[in-house]
Amino acid sequence: MAEHAPKPHANHSPSTQSIQVGVVEWFPFEAYVGVEDSIERLERLGVSQLRTGVSWADWNRPGGPAWLEWLLPRLTERFDLLPCFHYVPPSLGEVPSTSAPPINLDLFAHFVGHVIEQYGESFEYVELWNEPNNRVEWDYTRDPGWIKFSAMVGAAASWSRELGKRVVLGGLSPIDPNVLEILFERGLMRFIDVVGVHGFPGTWDARWSGWPAEIQRIQAVLDRHGSDAPVWITEAGYSTARHDEPAQVLAFVDATEAPGVERLYWYGLRDLEPERSAQTGFHLDEHDYHCGLVRNDGTPKLLYRAWERGGFDAVRELAGWQRERVSVEDGQPLVIVTGGAGFIGTNLVDRLLTDGRAVVIVDNLARSGAETNLRWLRQRHGGRAQFEAVDLRDPFALRRALEHEIDAVYHLAGQVAVTTSLVDPISDFEINARGTLNLLELLRARPTPPPLIFTSTNKVYGALEDLKFVARGPRYEPADTRLREHGIDERRPLDLHSPYGCSKGAADQYILDYARSYGLPTVVFRMSCIYGPRQLGTEDQGWVAHFMLSAIDRRPITIYGDGRQVRDVLAVGDLVDALVLAREQVESLRGEAFNIGGGPSRTLSLLQLCRRIERLHGAAPKLSFEDWRVGDQRYYVSDTRRFAARTGWRPRHSLDAGLEQLYAWLCQLRGVNAKRPRAAAFAAQEEAVR
Ligand SMILES: NC(=O)c1ccc[n+]([C@@H]2O[C@H](COP(=O)([O-])OP(=O)(O)OC[C@H]3O[C@@H](n4cnc5c(N)ncnc54)[C@H](O)[C@@H]3O)[C@@H](O)[C@H]2O)c1
Repeated sequence: MAEHAPKPHANHSPSTQSIQVGVVEWFPFEAYVGVEDSIERLERLGVSQLRTGVSWADWNRPGGPAWLEWLLPRLTERFDLLPCFHYVPPSLGEVPSTSAPPINLDLFAHFVGHVIEQYGESFEYVELWNEPNNRVEWDYTRDPGWIKFSAMVGAAASWSRELGKRVVLGGLSPIDPNVLEILFERGLMRFIDVVGVHGFPGTWDARWSGWPAEIQRIQAVLDRHGSDAPVWITEAGYSTARHDEPAQVLAFVDATEAPGVERLYWYGLRDLEPERSAQTGFHLDEHDYHCGLVRNDGTPKLLYRAWERGGFDAVRELAGWQRERVSVEDGQPLVIVTGGAGFIGTNLVDRLLTDGRAVVIVDNLARSGAETNLRWLRQRHGGRAQFEAVDLRDPFALRRALEHEIDAVYHLAGQVAVTTSLVDPISDFEINARGTLNLLELLRARPTPPPLIFTSTNKVYGALEDLKFVARGPRYEPADTRLREHGIDERRPLDLHSPYGCSKGAADQYILDYARSYGLPTVVFRMSCIYGPRQLGTEDQGWVAHFMLSAIDRRPITIYGDGRQVRDVLAVGDLVDALVLAREQVESLRGEAFNIGGGPSRTLSLLQLCRRIERLHGAAPKLSFEDWRVGDQRYYVSDTRRFAARTGWRPRHSLDAGLEQLYAWLCQLRGVNAKRPRAAAFAAQEEAVR
């Protein structure tokens, strides 16, 4: 079966036998569009339980009743809703704040009763208040012993029950048995059907002792008072402020495994807008802004991606990889591959493991499809490679991942698309430039820094605007004969184009300078287009695979420019040979950059690739043309003679064989029959190793 075959989109909301999983989302006042967007995204996850805030403060604003009148029916027609009633209208508080006790404690019950009478038919439970022991939500310093709180919530709870609702106690945060004990003493718990707790281990909960122990402490208080109220986790979450999206996956799975808990609501769907003030203040605590399943720009985080793709099984698989520790054979130094779950990284790790090396993969799985690559490596090699789910931007996590005796570091991880760098140049810089510097600093701190081989790009040479190219049939050619025969060599001055060019160029220069300034054994590869199996090409990166996939999927291909732009292309197996050679011969190569690619004998224009695809696939891909993209070179062919002369490296794959191999792999990925016999043979051979 194709590796990527989508699962049927039934309700694959993660649920084990004992726990139902929903989502918490707070909707800002009158955010109509945001609500519609959230509904759609939650439906894609198959989520049916939603917890949301019903703000008394908002209801008291002009337009408040109209907003609720729209919001509640809209949500209840799609979800099993748990409304959480909270926030004092500042005009009614002891002081003008949403967390201050109201002057008239009974008014809260009026508000709750009113909402139940209006909309209560479509929900079963009401949650009364949010985080009563979090001063930001309820200012308990104005209410020592929760006396006012118990009176206010007790009245609202009793009324809610009279109106046929079951009452959830606003989640304790932090989970604190002392507060629950006090609420029993105040008599409030007589009106409570479910006890809510909140937990944010790794984000806000210091002194966390694990879900089982935390829940047990609450259960002990309930048992002591003879209460059979079940415990729900009404809010659990993890902020990815440190860019640690895999850790969010782990935190999620941990919460779903909390023993004795019937229901869990995960906080939240979307990161907070950076321009808005959080409850704690404007960026007072950066964690506030990054608890979503999707980022503020709407792009999905790792947890959302896995959940959408494969439900709880896929999420649990990701967590399982992170929890596992591989015992590395006695004293064998490790090879670190950053970006080891990417296209080139997977091919390199496969070779290293086949050669009997011990490998650590450092990758944050930012690349969609990286999980598939990891699964493939495990199917071929068992759990022989250690996976460290680390983002280059987190120097502390990176340091922990490198706490081994290291034989070599291949630094492949990065933001890889020019287009993405144009949309978000800061993240691109942070990952490629700063992330590389983080790695260099960690290596510099070691008594004997290991060799580091870095995959830079031909983009550091810019658009080559001073060179003359002429259009010849379907391709551009350099007017200069030498250039035509040999390609671009390393004497070409750097000319950084596009934010991606700048960030990779900065990293390229730091890597070389750490050889110069600190004596680190580093080598830079300035690479042209690499192609081959495990390349999940998109329009933004990996054009050879992208073109083939488009043909297989019968999607039209957009060509930016006239399609005559020429690249040399190198089969990934040949690049892996070069990477291994660079490590072996690092002493003679250290401190140098090398142009690596297919060279003049392995070149293609976009139009020529389309023709080859037509021959392979039996049908011509449909093309449309758009304007040139920023920094796109008319022609780039690497002069690889220097590396070849120094190491004896020669590419082994012909263009024909390499393209056919990639085509066969992509056909297999899509679950379609490769048209050509040799390609089909390759697919069968791959199948045999699964
Ligand atoms: N493929 C090419 O044609 C080509 C050409 C020139 C240079 N390169 C360079 O080679 C390297 C590998 O390229 P690829 O084609 O395999 O790309 P890829 O996207 O398949 O792999 C990159 C890997 O890095 C990981 N990653 C991304 N951001 C990260 C972060 N912040 N922390 C940790 N891991 C992170 C991704 O999850 C992915 O697995 C890149 O540095 C790229 O710039 C590639």
